[in-house]
Amino acid sequence: MSIKTATLNGVATIEIARPEKKNALTQAMYQAMADAINAAQDDGAVRALLITGQPGIFTSGNDIEDFMQRPPQSADSPVFRFMQALVGSDKPVVVAVTGAAIGIGTTLLLHCDFVYVSDESRLAMPFVGLGLVPEFASSLLVPELMGHRRAAEKLLLGDPFTGEQAVECGLANAVLPAAEVVAHARRVAERFNALPPGAVRDSKRLMRGPQREQVLKTIATEAELFGQRLRSPEAMEAFQAFFQKRQPDFSKFA
Ligand code: COA
Repeated sequence: MSIKTATLNGVATIEIARPEKKNALTQAMYQAMADAINAAQDDGAVRALLITGQPGIFTSGNDIEDFMQRPPQSADSPVFRFMQALVGSDKPVVVAVTGAAIGIGTTLLLHCDFVYVSDESRLAMPFVGLGLVPEFASSLLVPELMGHRRAAEKLLLGDPFTGEQAVECGLANAVLPAAEVVAHARRVAERFNALPPGAVRDSKRLMRGPQREQVLKTIATEAELFGQRLRSPEAMEAFQAFFQKRQPDFSKFA
C-alpha cells in the first residue's frame, strides 16, 4: 500500500509513499486517503490531521496511466471521495509539502488549513498543458487568492512556482528547510491538543461556511468538463507524449 497512516499524540498522519513513481496518486491511494480522513473525523482522540510525502517529492499528481486506463467516471470515484472528505473535514488539516507538488498535489493545498513548503518544493497546476481544466474549485479559489493575472500564469500557462512564491501569493504559510518541514508541520498539528476541540471545529466551519456552496458548485461544474477533456484527443496526445518522454504537439488542433 502506498499510503501510510498512523495516529500519534492526537495527530492522524497520512503519508504518501510511492517514491518510485514520484508519489503519483492512483485510485486505490485516493480511496485510502479518503478512508483515513473519514476515520480521523470520527475518532475523538484525533485533534488534527497531517498530510505529508517523501523527501524531495510531495506528489506528482494523478497517476497518468490511471487517467488513461481508469478515468474517474462519477462523483462516486475515489478521487472525489478523497476531495469530499478533505473539503468536509472540520478538524484542522496541516500539510508538509516535502518537495514537488504537481496537479492535485497543489490543488489539494487550497482545501487545507496550514501549508508548510520545503525550500526544495516546486508547485504546478499543469492542467491546460495536459489538455485538461482546473479541478476541485481551483478555478474559483486560485484567482480569488492571488488575483486573475497571477492565477492565469499558474492555471492557463501552467507555470511552476517556488515555495517562496506560494507564500507570497497566500497559498502557503511558510517555507522551511527540507529537513525540518515535516517536524514543523507536526508541531503545528500538535498544538491542537491544547485547544478546545469543539471551538476549533465550530470556528473552522464558520471560516469555510460562506464559500461552501460556491465551492461545491464549482467542483461539480469543473468535474463535468474535466471528465470530457480526459477523453479528448488533446489529452490523449499529452498523456502519450509524457510516457514517450517527448514534448506534446498540439499544432493539429483547432
Ligand atoms: N503518473 C504516472 N507516472 C508518473 C507520474 C505520474 N503523474 N509522475 C512520475 N511518474 C513516473 C515516471 O513515468 C517514471 O516512471 P519510470 O521510472 O517507469 O519511467 C517515474 O515516475 C519517475 O519519474 P521521472 O519523470 O523520471 O522523474 P523526474 O525526477 O525526472 O521528474 C516530475 C519528476 C514529478 C517532475 C515528473 O515525473 C513529472 O512531471 N510528472 C508528471 C506530472 C504531471 O503532469 N502530473 C499530472 C498532473 S494532472
